Amino acid sequence: MDQLRELFESGSFWAQGRNGNDLRRMLAGSQAAVTAWNQRRLVGFGRATSDGVYRAVLWDVVVTQEHQGLGLGRRIVKALLEAPPLVASERIYLMTTNSSGFYERLGFQTVESQRLMQLIHNSNPTAIK
Ligand SMILES: CC(C)(COP(=O)(O)OP(=O)(O)OC[C@H]1O[C@@H](n2cnc3c(N)ncnc32)[C@H](O)[C@@H]1OP(=O)(O)O)[C@@H](O)C(=O)NCCC(=O)NCCS
Repeated sequence: MDQLRELFESGSFWAQGRNGNDLRRMLAGSQAAVTAWNQRRLVGFGRATSDGVYRAVLWDVVVTQEHQGLGLGRRIVKALLEAPPLVASERIYLMTTNSSGFYERLGFQTVESQRLMQLIHNSNPTAIK
């Protein structure tokens, strides 16, 4: 969990400041998760949520900077797409700020007809327990 937190801190901008407890709950609530290792070091991660039939969403795909460009990101996404709950899902969604070119190479298409909407909870979910 420490390594996952470090990977998010150094390799993402959206997943910084997450703590070990919440990361554990995040994993428990994900239907697929893929890790990439260089010996004992976590160098890549991706996860997905899915209802197993209609919809799935990829989340938190990250490869450490020094391991980027080696095909790891592609292997992580492909492994997620082949995981049972995703392989059975009709559509797979994801959100990306800077990496649409990466996902296009994997067959994803930008959706122009829909808008991303969000509702932000002010309180940290940890505080609701
Ligand atoms: C995006 C990311 C996961 C890609 O991982 P990676 O291991 O470097 O990617 P790969 O080496 O498997 O690249 C696969 C292909 O995508 C291309 N690619 C990689 N990142 C790209 C980007 N940001 N934009 C366009 N193309 C990209 C590669 O050139 C390669 O092309 P090829 O098929 O012609 O060889 C990685 O750069 C990363 O962790 N970035 C920071 C976090 C992030 O933005 N994650 C995405 C969150 S939605």
